[in-house]
Amino acid sequence: MLTFTGDPYLTDLSRCMTYEDDAIIVTENGLIAAVGPAPEILPTLDADIEVADHQGDLIVPGFIDCHVHYPQTEIIGSHGKQLIDWLNNYTFIAEQFFSHKPHADEVAKIFLREQLRNGVTSSSVFCTIFPVSVDALFEAAEPLNMRIMAGKVCMDRNAAAGLLDTAEQAYVESKRLIEKWHGRGRMEYVLTPRFAPTSSDAQLEQLQALAKEYPDMLIQSHISENRDEVAWVKQLFPGARDYTDVYDQYGLLRPRAIYGHGIHLDESELQRFHAAGAALAHCPTSNFFLGSGYLNVERAKRADRPIAVGLATDLGAGTSFSMLQTMNEAYKAAHLNHSDLPPAHAFYLATRGSATALGIADKVGSIAVGMEADFAVLNLRSTPVIDYRMRFASNFDEELFIQMTLGDDRAIAATYIADERVYG
Ligand code: GUN
Ligand code: ZN
Repeated sequence: MLTFTGDPYLTDLSRCMTYEDDAIIVTENGLIAAVGPAPEILPTLDADIEVADHQGDLIVPGFIDCHVHYPQTEIIGSHGKQLIDWLNNYTFIAEQFFSHKPHADEVAKIFLREQLRNGVTSSSVFCTIFPVSVDALFEAAEPLNMRIMAGKVCMDRNAAAGLLDTAEQAYVESKRLIEKWHGRGRMEYVLTPRFAPTSSDAQLEQLQALAKEYPDMLIQSHISENRDEVAWVKQLFPGARDYTDVYDQYGLLRPRAIYGHGIHLDESELQRFHAAGAALAHCPTSNFFLGSGYLNVERAKRADRPIAVGLATDLGAGTSFSMLQTMNEAYKAAHLNHSDLPPAHAFYLATRGSATALGIADKVGSIAVGMEADFAVLNLRSTPVIDYRMRFASNFDEELFIQMTLGDDRAIAATYIADERVYG
């Protein structure tokens, strides 16, 4: 079993990583009741306790994808240009079909099925401007008891005509969805302006009002993904000091506000993220796919002004549901920044790191007493080449690195949600 009690970017790894090579996790009513080395836990158990035996496998906290677009499942791997063209040519076409509830229902189910096949137990999800697309996702997540956070995308300009709401609709429809879904089971609503270029000042004002009414609510959007996008924002908001300032002016930079990408943020913007307690979602497969660049996670997490960073697929610009493959690409992003991503740090980002960025680290993201019992179980020899490569691994660190380099959905032996085996 592998889990983290703290942040390895800020604390020595030996003090924040827990690895047990023979662990028992006791669960009760969807929560973790006890956890520790088998010789310690075994004598405390009733003889008739139900056992799931995963000897030989690695149990980690369920992976948390902190930024993903479920309606883009059908456009993963669409060939083309960079961000703005990709949005116009593929995304804004696919998302128009989500006013049709049966279509949204179908995609939501496929999306969640793929997450479970990849050991993803929680995610923060962009829907579309259509409220029924939010209903579809939450309705599909509810019977699975998944900790899903999601919101209606708000955008009232610079997108296809069939995909625009208005400033007022952003407020009224978001509020109606909050009343319907927020806090129901394990589900949370997320205020979701798509990004600055697609919201007018009037719409950002409406979202600011909602954010004030719900001071603890998650906010998700995009920032500084692509250089042309950054230049466009400068044109659209001449009064703002920089991209970060646009969101800050409208009260959208605060704890539990999480922004995808942030690749091109400058030092003063990073300092404002830190001061506001806002977080970043690192989306390396997406960033490479769209040629956006590569976030410097080490820089974002600099110890004198650390920013919470989580790991995310950003499908369908992202290319894989697998958080292992996302770690693989995050490692390459680190290299291009002349930095490093040790395997423990990668697993941290995909679990407790994402949980911290979303402000849910008191519930999920680590394996400890009182936490919700969401797990991914990894088969460490899931393919012939991994099996072969593992023979030459001389320690746990190397084994872990092999998993994040060569592993994918085939490495997921089982997925547990609140103590229920939902896959494998
Ligand atoms: N910026 C605004 N919308 C999107 C989106 O759907 N995907 C990505 N990658 N970036 C965005
Ligand atoms: Zn995104």
